[in-house]
Amino acid sequence: MTKRAKISRRAFGRNVGLTAAGLALLKPHYLFAAGVTPKQVEGPFYPDSDLGDTDLDLTLIQGHTDSAKGEHIFVHGQVRDSEGNPLGNATVDIWQANDAGKYRHADDPNPAPLDPNFQGWGIVQTDAEGYYRFKTIKPGAYSLEFLGGGGWRARHIHYKVSHAEHQPLTTQLYFPGDPLIEQDLEIVKAPEADRWMLMSILEEQHQSGLDIYRFDVVLAANEA
Ligand SMILES: [Fe+2]
Repeated sequence: MTKRAKISRRAFGRNVGLTAAGLALLKPHYLFAAGVTPKQVEGPFYPDSDLGDTDLDLTLIQGHTDSAKGEHIFVHGQVRDSEGNPLGNATVDIWQANDAGKYRHADDPNPAPLDPNFQGWGIVQTDAEGYYRFKTIKPGAYSLEFLGGGGWRARHIHYKVSHAEHQPLTTQLYFPGDPLIEQDLEIVKAPEADRWMLMSILEEQHQSGLDIYRFDVVLAANEA
C-alpha cells in the first residue's frame, strides 16, 4: 500500500490527454500537492439504501455468491493535508454507477438495469499513513438525457472525504484515457490548473490481473 506510482509527467499527460502547456502545470500529486483537491458536485444519487454492506469490496455484497458485473478494479490512494502530511483516520465514502451506468437510487430515472450484485457504496477509514483502498468496478458512463440535460457524464466515482481537523470534501475521480472527459460538464467546473488532481493514475496491474488506479486526496485545514 505504500508503493508509489511510477509514471513520468509526459506519460501522465498522454494518459489524461493534456497538451504541452497543460503538462507544464502538472505536479506529481503523489509526492506533494500545494493545492487542495478541487470540489465536484455531489449529484442527486448519494445512496438511499445500504444493502447492509458498505465495506471496501463493492464487487461483492455480503451473503451473495455472485459478484458484480463489469471490469473489476482496485482504487486506492492517500489522504493528506496541504503540506503533504498523511491524514490517518479520515473517512473515505464512495458511491458510483454500476457497469450499465445506473445508480442504486430511487430517483435515478436511467432505464439501464440495476445489478443485484453490485454494492455501489463503500465507506472506509484511512490507516495511520493516510491510505485507503477499495475493490470496485469501473463505473459505466451515463447519458444526461434522462436527467433533462444533454451529453454524457464521463466515467466517475463520487467521493466524500472527511477528517476531524479538516474541511470535508465532496469530489469525483475520473479515469485516464476516457474519451468522454473532453465533453464532461462537471470536470470543467474545477479550476483548470487544478483539474489534474481529479484524474486517477493507472498503476501497474495487481498480481490478480486487475487494474489499480491511484487517487490521492488533499484536504484543506479547518478555518481557525
Ligand atoms: Fe455521478
